[in-house]
Amino acid sequence: MEENIQDPELLANRLLEDEEEFHHLNNPAEAIKPIIKKYLGIPKSVEQAENKFYFTDGDAKVEIVVITEQVIKVRLAPHGVFLEEFSYAVPKIVTKNVAFTLFEDDNEFRISTSAVSCHIRKQDFFISFSDNENNITSADAVPMHWEENIKFGGYYVFCTKECHPEESFFGLGDKPTELNLRGKRLKNWNTDAYSFAWNQDPLYRSIPFYISLNDDIAHGIFFDNTFKSHFDFGGEDKTKTSFWADGGELQYYYIHGPHMMDVVKSYHLLTGTHPMPPLWALGYHQCRWSYYPEAKVRKIATGFRENQIPCDGIYLDIDYMDGYRCFTWNKKYFPDPKKMISELAADGFKTVVIIDPGIRVDDNYWVFKEGKENRHFCRRSDDYFMEGHVWPGRCQFPDFTNPDVREWWGGLFEGLVEAGVAGVWNDMNEPAVFGAGTFPDDVRHQYDGQRGSHRKAHNVYGMQMVRSTYEGLRKLMKNKRPFTITRAGYSGVQRYASAWTGDNVASWEHLKLGNIQCQRMSVSGIPFVGTDIGGFSGEPDGELFTRWIQMGTFSPFMRAHSAGDTKEREPWSFGEPFTSINRKFIELRYRLLPYMYSAFWEHHRYGFPILRPVVMQEQEVLSNHFRQDEFTYGDKILICPVLEPGQKSRKVYLPKGNWYNFWTYEVVAGGKETEVLTPLETMPIFVKAGSIIPEYPVMQYVGEKEIEEVILNVYYSDYEANSFLFEDYGETFAYEQDIYLEKKFAVSGTKTSFVINQSMEGLYNPRYENYAFNIIGLPFKPSKIMASDGRPITDFTITKDGCLQMKFSKNFKRLEISK
Ligand code: GLC
Repeated sequence: MEENIQDPELLANRLLEDEEEFHHLNNPAEAIKPIIKKYLGIPKSVEQAENKFYFTDGDAKVEIVVITEQVIKVRLAPHGVFLEEFSYAVPKIVTKNVAFTLFEDDNEFRISTSAVSCHIRKQDFFISFSDNENNITSADAVPMHWEENIKFGGYYVFCTKECHPEESFFGLGDKPTELNLRGKRLKNWNTDAYSFAWNQDPLYRSIPFYISLNDDIAHGIFFDNTFKSHFDFGGEDKTKTSFWADGGELQYYYIHGPHMMDVVKSYHLLTGTHPMPPLWALGYHQCRWSYYPEAKVRKIATGFRENQIPCDGIYLDIDYMDGYRCFTWNKKYFPDPKKMISELAADGFKTVVIIDPGIRVDDNYWVFKEGKENRHFCRRSDDYFMEGHVWPGRCQFPDFTNPDVREWWGGLFEGLVEAGVAGVWNDMNEPAVFGAGTFPDDVRHQYDGQRGSHRKAHNVYGMQMVRSTYEGLRKLMKNKRPFTITRAGYSGVQRYASAWTGDNVASWEHLKLGNIQCQRMSVSGIPFVGTDIGGFSGEPDGELFTRWIQMGTFSPFMRAHSAGDTKEREPWSFGEPFTSINRKFIELRYRLLPYMYSAFWEHHRYGFPILRPVVMQEQEVLSNHFRQDEFTYGDKILICPVLEPGQKSRKVYLPKGNWYNFWTYEVVAGGKETEVLTPLETMPIFVKAGSIIPEYPVMQYVGEKEIEEVILNVYYSDYEANSFLFEDYGETFAYEQDIYLEKKFAVSGTKTSFVINQSMEGLYNPRYENYAFNIIGLPFKPSKIMASDGRPITDFTITKDGCLQMKFSKNFKRLEISK
């Protein structure tokens, strides 16, 4: 007779007993262990293969690779088998000839270069890093661990490190939150985030790279894992920093500083830098969803020239297409695109068009037909095509992780390039799907032969789209530099595109947020970045728009953009005094082009970020870890945008040393905060003493005028200081064949003299003959100016501001100015 047990506890116990008693002969399930987190055990041995070291606890394996003096890579294989080496972020590991040693004692194994040591503790497999003065910079708080993923296979992988009381964290791409990430928990999963809010996470990009700063020593961690990844910077537990991912390998690069700048430079060594953009792309861009029909585009263009407001880029958003079908034209709105584009070009405008990844399901549409016939579109695990709704209606989506698809997509731009399009704006590539948000996890991707579900490919989808666009344009445009922008991206996306911060809002809060986001992206390896000036959704008033133009003047990418349901948003839309102030700042952008272009070269060639938060100038000052308003463009110009309405003055922190107020030439001592007046027509801008800031005459667009002379604004200093100027053709890849000119300036001053030296390297010869010198802040009245060939210069003037002005050959080697 069956027992009838009423008491639930008794019943549960009985069931448990029954289960324990339940034995099948040869029951295969018996050996299955429950899923629990597993931790590395004790390292038993080490094997070395050149610069790679393998440690095992008997089952799991850890690989340590010496990449450079400063960079060491760590990899974990839970059951001893590593995945095939493949990375979209790090296309090729450049291992230099690095000297390293392996040392072993009772406590640890230690692999050392001249700059860092990686310690593997024998007692518990803790991995830590120290510098060459034995400062521990990064240390495991628990051994690396993992948990089997029953549903998808593979493992959730985890790494937890110690977090110190005063440790600060920077990086991670476009997170809309404070610059210092201390105390935050964030994740990476590319997301279409229309009108995102402060602290909303995640947004459009996945950059699993952070910089830690503790005790004046910086190091970086680049967690090269494309799955959904998570970071906790002392959020859950103040004493721990963790990063983990929903799949893939636990694979990270420890990047040693000691300076934040060293970390960013090494990160670029791994993931590459931005190619030199065409010079025009550093000009002002005007965009809106949407300028159509053709007459409207022409009206906007004429508006710029009539208002004498410089502009280079003009944009066509989705309405230029026929029913939002990519690579087609709406012939009603744009009957002869080639003619329009060439006439715009004759007036100095470069036309940039939008492209989305969603291809309309339509058997009468050639792009869809080609993609379908060649099976270029993504499919689900049961082999159905991935279909979802975007602007054109029902769409399928190219699998950009397939090299054949990238090749095909790149070729689709032929017609647009033929029509004269100069740049392509890659949007909705998170990928965004209406309703669902994005693709379901089971969509399969070719992943350059590595195969993967959308869980693995999601975060790189957008980057591979813009890669394919960029590479296609590069072929089609022959030796001309293509211009591309992308909304989504993964580490390394900077090799293919510039970026904007997505669908922001016309609010003062978003102005602040944009300021932080641009700085953060810049230190996260994405230098060519900007916001939708004015805010994408909502209505700015004249003041907000003007303050945004002012900040945007110092965003590497300067574009105004707005949604279609907003009021007109051109630099003259708000009337006076706004139009004049907007003009003055856009003109300033054009004046500073040679300086900005040089900062680009410094990025491209040497891996420096373009925008640098103040903490990067003075990381040893703890209060700077929390400053997020001020930043420098390159290393000479400090900007502090005005971020509040009606602000008459604001505090600006200047790092140590002397700084010149850009507007008044007043010298201000740094190392402290200074109150600066902020009437609407100015924004605090300071130039470091000793700088040489090259300047072009104002042009309505790049190439409008032959540059007849370059102005050199020289800011006196009583110490030695260096500056540089990069020049080349500005639109070809000749710089890859060393056709460029890199000029180095060195100045040094005393109370009675000031010397300027110039040296040059490279094969390019600019057409202009002379520099127009504007020497600011001399502490004496100059009476004698000697060139290095012994010639005295007698033709000079002193302005009412006390500046010394003269013209002299661009080939000068040395100028000595004395009392
Ligand atoms: C997305 C983009 C925005 C664009 C719009 C229409 O929202 O982020 O910039 O204007 O789509 O294409």
